[in-house]
Order: sequence, then structure tokens, then C-alpha cells
Amino acid sequence: MTKHMNKVLLVFGTRPEAIKMCPLIKELEKHPGTFDVKVCVTGQHREMLDQVLNIFEVKPDYDLKIMKQGQDLYDVTVGVLAGMRDVLEDAKPDVVLVHGDTTTSTAAALAAFYKQIPVAHVEAGLRTHNIYSPWPEEMNRSITGRIATYHFAPTRLSKQNLLAENVSEENIFVTGNTVLDALHMVLGKMQREENMKTAVEARLVQEGLPASLLAAWDGNNRVNRRLVLITGHRRENFGDGFRSICYAIKSLAEKYPEVDFVYPVHLNPNVRKPVNEILQQADLANVYIISPLDYLPFVYLMSKSCLILTDSGGVQEEAPGLGKPVLVMRNTTERPEAVDAGTVKLVGVDEEKIKEEVSALLDNEDVYNSMAQAVNPYGDGKACHRIARMLSREAVVEQFI
Ligand code: UD1
Ligand code: UDP
Repeated sequence: MTKHMNKVLLVFGTRPEAIKMCPLIKELEKHPGTFDVKVCVTGQHREMLDQVLNIFEVKPDYDLKIMKQGQDLYDVTVGVLAGMRDVLEDAKPDVVLVHGDTTTSTAAALAAFYKQIPVAHVEAGLRTHNIYSPWPEEMNRSITGRIATYHFAPTRLSKQNLLAENVSEENIFVTGNTVLDALHMVLGKMQREENMKTAVEARLVQEGLPASLLAAWDGNNRVNRRLVLITGHRRENFGDGFRSICYAIKSLAEKYPEVDFVYPVHLNPNVRKPVNEILQQADLANVYIISPLDYLPFVYLMSKSCLILTDSGGVQEEAPGLGKPVLVMRNTTERPEAVDAGTVKLVGVDEEKIKEEVSALLDNEDVYNSMAQAVNPYGDGKACHRIARMLSREAVVEQFI
């Protein structure tokens, strides 16, 4: 990086981007003499984005408010691209920071490119090399990487992916993933502040989870009841994929009445419909279908769970650090590090396969223990500090040492 970047504009729009960018905003704001920080949210998500902004106490300077019920990829792309024109004209940033693989980040990067403003890509270089899986995220991340000047790669592997695409090595910085910064922040908060834990538990009780269960769930401790935590939202799983996932959960809940299955359901109607038709209406005593959770209660549940069934990207990065086995309902992953370490396993969306893999973990202590190791390939919670340092490299590096 050759030039000190003073005016920094961070752009994001969905829940996971917010979780991963808010700690970076906080870090940059620690250095007001160095950075003039502006935040633009596109509002690709609304409620699920606002939940995160509230927790991290981030007040955006700009909000494009683009979300529509049932929006498609064209709606999001057009809304962000057109909306960013005025924001960039007003903010006149030295650099635009975007995150990951969403349509918000790709359209915002393109908008910055049209004004010849350099883009810095946070969580750069993850690849499956299959443009339809995850879809459209694999292509989104590749396009954003092609536009970006600076690349903050979470791992050495993601750096290798960028080098293989001829990205200049001097512009790639291995930082760790900022999701670990977020996770450390909230875990620390819950450990330090007893009233925070009480508030989280009260929120979960409000959601319909009995207090007795919150007290009972304790990882794979078979003396008490166990918790299987579930999330799912991938576009490529819409339709048959989600129906198959729901049938698998239903049949597992019937097979294991002593295990509880908690599923905070994404607000996308394509997800809610099958979950409602197949799971909610089955009305099983040990299945809890609840609203998307604030980040703290969700982290609390991850830490109490015995295993996690998900198609989420972020959860694949958080759960290994907590020593939780993760079964990923996808056929590919751009996050192979935890798969290689043995704590994450790809199981796809086939009903029988999901049942078989969950059963193996619930029934067999050896299988369970072989996956339940705390590994942390994605970072040490200091990614934001490294990114801030890189951005200010020439001017004020001594402030960060
Ligand atoms: C988006 C991202 C995906 C990311 C996911 C995280 C793209 C193409 N997809 O997918 O990469 O993994 O977010 O969750 O960028 N909705 C609400 N309220 C909310 C959020 C969503 O009602 O707060 C509903 C709306 O009907 C909306 C729909 O969900 O139209 C889909 O939202 P969208 O952002 O387009 O897709 P996601 O599946 O959330
Ligand atoms: N998460 C949350 N509440 C929930 C479910 C997930 O706060 O009810 C968090 C989770 O800890 C992770 C992020 O949301 O940090 C993942 O978001 P999502 O699965 O929507 O997107 P992805 O990571 O797949 O892009």
C-alpha cells in the first residue's frame, strides 16, 4: 500500500457482513486522527442487519434502504449500484471497503470502480472454483476481487488463491477473519458481564425456549438433554433442497426425543415456507422454530450446542473455535480449512445422508470426539487491528505498535 488512506467508507448490507465489518468500524474509530470513517449500509437486509447494528452500536452515515420482500439478484444489484453513485459523490472516500461475497459488495465495488476509487476487499480470496456453488457468491467474490486493489485474505490458503489469479503479492495481506474479532468481543462481554448473560437468557426464553433447557444444554453431556442448532438459507438449496433438509430434521427429532432441535429461521420467504409447512406444522415437542436471533443469543446457543447443522459461511468459521462439530448442508465449501482440520464436514442436502451423519455424531462418542476439537484456522481475533494497520501503513504505523 503506497498511500495513507484517510477517508474510509465501509459499505455492507446483510447480517453476516455487518457482523464481520462492525468490529472493523470500531477499530478504525479508535484512531480519529488517522481515519475519517464513514459507514454506508445498503439495507439489502433490514431487520437482520439492524439487529447487528444495534448490538455493535453502529449508526450508519448513509442507508440506501433497498430491501424489498422477495427481491431478486437484479433488484439488489440495481438498487446498490444506483444508490452508491450519490453516496460516493457525497463522501468522496480515499478507499471503499467492502466485504466478502454478497451482491451488496460486488455492486458497491463496481460503483467505486466507476469513480476510480480504490476498493479494499475484506475476506478476499475464498474460492470453490465452481461458479454455481455457492451461487451467486462464488462469482460475486471473484468479481469483487478482480475490481479490488487491496485484498485482506483471512488465511494463507485464500492468499494462495489470489496469487494463482495473478493478484500482485504486495497488495495481499493475510489478516485472519474479522468474524473471530466479533466472536471474541461478544464472548468476552458475556463472560465479564453477568447481567449480559441474564439478558441473553431472558431473550431466548421470550423466543419460546424453556429456561430449564437453557440450563440443561451442555455440549455433548448425555446426562442432560442435548441441543442441535440449525441454520440454513442458501439460494442453491431453495425448493427440493430445503424440503429435504426439513424432512431430515423432522425424522431426526422423532428418532431422538431426548435431543432438542433449535432452528432460528432466516426471514427469506423461500426458507420460511418449507420450514413452516414441514417442521412447524409437525408440532414436535423437541423442535423449536424461532426468529433470527441477535448475535449474542446465537453465540450463546452455539456454545451450548452439541453440534451444528448449517449451510452458513460464517458459522463454519465460528463454530470450530468453540469446539463444535459442524455438518454443512452443501456440496462445496470455500472454507476448506476447518474441513481439513476435521471439525467441519460437508454432508449436502440429501435427507438420508443428513440423518446418517447427525445420527453418527449423536450415537457414537468416538465419532463425536474426533470432530469436537477446538481448532482455529480463521484467526486470533486481531484481524481488524491488522487491517487498520495496513490501511494507515505509511502515515502512522507507530500508533499501532
Ligand atoms: C444474502 C446474500 C448471501 C448471504 C445471506 C446472509 C446475496 C446474493 N446473498 O442472501 O450471500 O449469505 O444474505 O443471510 O447477496 N429478508 C427480510 N428481512 C431481512 C433479511 C431478509 O425480510 O432482514 C427477506 C426479504 O424477503 C428478502 C429476502 O429475505 O427479499 C432475501 O434477502 P437477500 O439478501 O436477497 O438474500 P439472502 O438469501 O438473505
Ligand atoms: N447468526 C445470528 N443469528 C442467527 C443465525 C446466525 O446472529 O439467528 C450469525 C452467525 O453467528 C454468523 C452469521 O450470522 O456470524 C451468519 O450469517 P448467515 O448464515 O446469514 O450468512 P453467511 O455467513 O452464510 O453468509
